[in-house]
Amino acid sequence: MNEKVTIFDTTLRDGEQAPGASLNVFEKVEIAKQMERLNVDVIEAGFPVSSQAQFEAVQRIADSVNMIVTGLARTVDADIDSCQRALNGADRFRIHTFIGTSDIHLKGKFGADRYGKSLEKKRNTILNMACEAVQYSKTFTDDVEFSPEDAGRTDIGYLAEVVEAVISAGATTINIPDTTGYTMPEEFGAKIAELRKRVINIDQAVISVHCHNDLGLAVANSLNAIANGARQVECTINGIGERAGNASMEEIVMALDVRSNYWNYYTNIKTEEIYNTSRMVSGFTGMLVQPNKAIVGENAFAHESGIHQDGMLKNRDTYEIMTPESVGIRNNKIVLGRHSGRHGLSVRFKALGYEVTEDKMDYYYERFLDLADKKKEIYDEDLRILMGDKAESEQGFYTLDYLHVNLGTATIATATVRIESEGKTYEESATGDGPVDACFRAINRAIDFQSQTRLEHYQVRSVTAGKGAQGEVTVRLKINGSAYTGKGVSTDTIKASAKSYLQALNHYEAMKDMNEVFETISETV
Ligand code: KIV
Ligand code: ZN
Repeated sequence: MNEKVTIFDTTLRDGEQAPGASLNVFEKVEIAKQMERLNVDVIEAGFPVSSQAQFEAVQRIADSVNMIVTGLARTVDADIDSCQRALNGADRFRIHTFIGTSDIHLKGKFGADRYGKSLEKKRNTILNMACEAVQYSKTFTDDVEFSPEDAGRTDIGYLAEVVEAVISAGATTINIPDTTGYTMPEEFGAKIAELRKRVINIDQAVISVHCHNDLGLAVANSLNAIANGARQVECTINGIGERAGNASMEEIVMALDVRSNYWNYYTNIKTEEIYNTSRMVSGFTGMLVQPNKAIVGENAFAHESGIHQDGMLKNRDTYEIMTPESVGIRNNKIVLGRHSGRHGLSVRFKALGYEVTEDKMDYYYERFLDLADKKKEIYDEDLRILMGDKAESEQGFYTLDYLHVNLGTATIATATVRIESEGKTYEESATGDGPVDACFRAINRAIDFQSQTRLEHYQVRSVTAGKGAQGEVTVRLKINGSAYTGKGVSTDTIKASAKSYLQALNHYEAMKDMNEVFETISETV
């Protein structure tokens, strides 16, 4: 009989740790609701103690969705307290606590003498901290997950000892993270098998895995772990996450689904919701999906060569192992236009996974009509963008009120901007190396932005086809050493550039408090 694999989505926690991928509370709640439609089993909503914004997001998600909601906590009481306070409103919640167990972590992060002078003593201290954290978490919920961070590089004997002890302390899920994406698939699978052999009480907990993609092996490692006894996988949509990212949910789910003749496992994921979720996550985070990305990339179902096209026309199975429809990519594109009504628009939004309440529909409809004036045909991608734009303006610290650009072959580009922030307006002009540069300089001047800023990445892409296509601009700024992504869309590329720049600055403003908290807490553990 086929066995179920639990899907634990960490897009909003580990995924959001991808450089520049910060999300505001509104966007996180929208994504969480889409995860519910996708039917994930567990959603990791964030790291509540790390900032007020994280706490609020976890709290709002816990109140809004019906699935197991979890939050991350280090093995310290303050983290666990914050987690339980944020999760309290959920119908079902889990506390996920973690501590590093590899020698590298013990000697580095826990190098101070107060954790023990020898490696042996440090191991003992960490084991006790892990057990105490699990016991404390158990006072709030029966559902407690423990992760020995960097398990992929942890000595198997010590790992087995920790796992056995935390299960005795009450952990119901044991997550084995390959934190640095270091292990090979057979090696990782063997580690899971070995734990099942060595840990006498292993049957009292679900084994979970959490693989990073530094060597491009996160999905292969996760599948090998399942084959060796793991029954939960932690993953993210589009594989976003720290550094090279996490195991991609859509790839794991479809590998189990398409090759059900090979695997004896299934998931509860509604695969037809995969594409909507992928587009929503990409839109809100500003992290573009590479065109050749498996399952959700633009080219995943494109057949270019004549031989392939001919084969496909005769029989789709010739070159297609799954249909685009099975992951929610529809061919029958419905195009809206100036004469489409509010009802038609609202039905379309719903089909794309966005819930628009009646009171917000006026705003969207007006924006839709504005856009329809500029471009005759409105495609799904345009609507997704409209949504992404609004999500940002919901909480934007800065908004673009006015933009005027002067340019020509014989003049120096000059931009004038008016920015609104907290009820005040700021206007400035600047010249630059071309209109985009002038725009960015004018914005910096208008808001008197003093921080060290470097434009690391600037990309323009046409969202839909045709003369009136919207241009989507993505920027990544390095501000005081951290990366912030912004995305702006308009039929005018310069305006899209200004919007993307402001969105990145808005992310910076939203994350400022979080970075300060991280700096203080990293000194206390
Ligand atoms: O990669 C990792 O080790 C983690 C843990 C906190 C689970 O993200
Ligand atoms: Zn991770």
